[in-house]
Amino acid sequence: STVFLNGQFLPANEARISPMDRGFLFGDGIYEVIPSYQGRFVGFGPHISRLHDGLAALSIQHGMTAAAWRELCDKLLELNRPALGDNLAVYIQVSRGADTKRNHAFPSGISPTIFAYAFAIAAEPVPDKAKVPTYSVITGNDLRWQRCHIKSTSLLGNVLHYQQGVEQGAQEILLFDRDANLTEGAAVNVFVVKNGEIATPPLSNKLLPGITRLLLLEILRQHSDLNVVEREISYDEVLAADEIWLTSSSKEIAPVLSVNGRPVGNGAVGDMWLAAQRLFSEYKY
Ligand code: PDD
Repeated sequence: STVFLNGQFLPANEARISPMDRGFLFGDGIYEVIPSYQGRFVGFGPHISRLHDGLAALSIQHGMTAAAWRELCDKLLELNRPALGDNLAVYIQVSRGADTKRNHAFPSGISPTIFAYAFAIAAEPVPDKAKVPTYSVITGNDLRWQRCHIKSTSLLGNVLHYQQGVEQGAQEILLFDRDANLTEGAAVNVFVVKNGEIATPPLSNKLLPGITRLLLLEILRQHSDLNVVEREISYDEVLAADEIWLTSSSKEIAPVLSVNGRPVGNGAVGDMWLAAQRLFSEYKY
């Protein structure tokens, strides 16, 4: 495939990054994953805003504008669609750059490493109960750091939680803070439905402000009269839910059918999921 690295488009196997790059040594960088179907990005503007927020939080100067990112990402699709197909996500990573020595302090006078590439993703999700991939999850204590709102490339906390799920035969893990309130999953935001109320935890330093979460909240509020709230959700409420959904750029809205081996609601894909995914599919662009 053709990738972008520091101002150039080049074959993936020719792209080189210094071992002194702080992205490698410290995980000192920010990333994004932006999905596209048939050349149309989903949530492009909000993804770039979140990228810029993360870079500002790390004081990484980059000189990129939203328009420059757009041009770069459009070009990556154009260069890769013939070979990789029409459903592509663009991964963007900006690290603080490479210094000559390893030093925790921010170095002065280095420029950031900007890398982006496109990869094939599953076909566009459809609002069809028979076709949607469903999930089994476990639960666990959220042992990550207290800056989970920053989409940092330092993902070890998330990786270890994700693997905890895999080792127990699950595909995600629902995480709970010290007060036993839901935060998010290892790589997804979470929605819980009970008696017609659709709830998701409020934004804070404990979770990533997911773009799918944002779009779904906006769409449900603008285009339905469903009862949608951002509030704390307890462990007990998760176990008693009628429906649980995972949201992320690659999954859109994914139904969870079991938690810790017990069925969620009646153990089948729910009617609220169908209503939500229908609206999301209609209004997401
Ligand atoms: N994961 N929470 C975490 C911890 C995430 O890593 C992600 C995304 C989300 C969902 O965010 P969004 O709706 O903006 O994709 C929530 C990405 C896709 C990843 O790491 O691959």
